[in-house]
Amino acid sequence: MNIGIDKIAFYTPEYVLDLVTLAKARGDEPDKYTIGIGQDEQAVIPNDEDVVTMGANAARQIVDDQERKTIDMVIFATESGIDNSKSSAIYVQKLLQLSEFVRTIELKQACYAGTFGLMQARDYVAAHPDKRVLVIASDIARYGLATAGEVTQGAGAVAMIVATNPNITLINDDSVYMSREVADFWRPVDRTEALVDGHLSTEVYKEMFLTLWQRYKNQTKHSLNDFTGFAFHLPYTKMGKKALDQIILEADEAQQKRLLNNLIASQQFSRHVGNLYTGSVYLSLLSLLSHSKDLKPGEKVAIFSYGSGAEAELYSMTLQPDFRSSIPAASVAKQLSERQQVSVAQYEKIFQSQLLDSHVDVIRSATKKHHFQFLGWQNGERQYS
Ligand code: COA
Repeated sequence: MNIGIDKIAFYTPEYVLDLVTLAKARGDEPDKYTIGIGQDEQAVIPNDEDVVTMGANAARQIVDDQERKTIDMVIFATESGIDNSKSSAIYVQKLLQLSEFVRTIELKQACYAGTFGLMQARDYVAAHPDKRVLVIASDIARYGLATAGEVTQGAGAVAMIVATNPNITLINDDSVYMSREVADFWRPVDRTEALVDGHLSTEVYKEMFLTLWQRYKNQTKHSLNDFTGFAFHLPYTKMGKKALDQIILEADEAQQKRLLNNLIASQQFSRHVGNLYTGSVYLSLLSLLSHSKDLKPGEKVAIFSYGSGAEAELYSMTLQPDFRSSIPAASVAKQLSERQQVSVAQYEKIFQSQLLDSHVDVIRSATKKHHFQFLGWQNGERQYS
């Protein structure tokens, strides 16, 4: 059965920080950020947005009246959720005015959960071919001011509709995956910033990619020549190159060139947004499909998903005949170019202005600046418009 991504959309907040400016403010070489780590800009999230508003703001672009009638399940993947009990998917159901007769659930496993959501959606549609599933991966990557991780912050959401006979890609049933307890990145429930050993994380990521690549080749008998490109989870864009460099010599020279060009294509959006945690690998896919000149229907792209802690999955997608006309390449580029640049001082002020205290009632009036908005707290409950 043909099952995969029928629609995809992306949303990121309206503010952006230039990382050359940040490097200078932190006393670092700008080339370290832009070349060594591979990030040019990062999204800055104002305090009237959170994972719910970003997820809903992404999903509204692909949920029209027809879709409202057909969506049967909402899977919300995040590692920066807003409640320890209630699922962000329920807030999205309300904001998007979906039917009450839907399943709603939130998933967590660091940056990996979006992939698990996609796999659950595919298996569900395989069992119920007339159903359509909304999968949202939405996150705020937040490490703290003047920390080593600061340059790799970011925020945004990717929303996807999984269905039969999809317009964009088939999700192939060829996954290999693995889990191993590692302390490379985590966030205790009483903290708003992640704890991270970025160098350990890089090593575990590289090792899991290599292990799964060998396993994938053994199980599927595919080789590197069978893929047009890779979409990697990109905590920072250099990470994709570090992973691919480990296997690139398995391909002939022409194929090496093609894969490296398509790696650059897959990194473009992330360079200007930063880490999206759960959504990062799917922003990388969207970037690949938007920027690569040589992708053709029927070709395969490999997807490598990594979530610290650690869990990883490698699988493939097959490009569909209408994939080019079905991806929002121009609207994502427009969204990125229309963002407002903030200074380091403005970014620091925004960073410290989170409305975290559920004991204090605060309600701001809705501005509709970014459609769905977090208004504040009332009786300990988050209020949205
Ligand atoms: N010009 C060009 N490159 C430079 C440079 C300069 N002036 N100065 C340093 N670099 C390079 C380094 O050689 C290094 O490249 P390499 O990784 O290919 O060896 C790179 O820039 C980073 O330098 P490094 O000293 O390792 O940076 P750091 O100790 O500040 O840490 C991260 C960088 C990415 C590890 C850190 O930002 C981090 O921990 N981020 C969180 C990422 C993460 O793990 N997330 C969780 C997993 S999803």
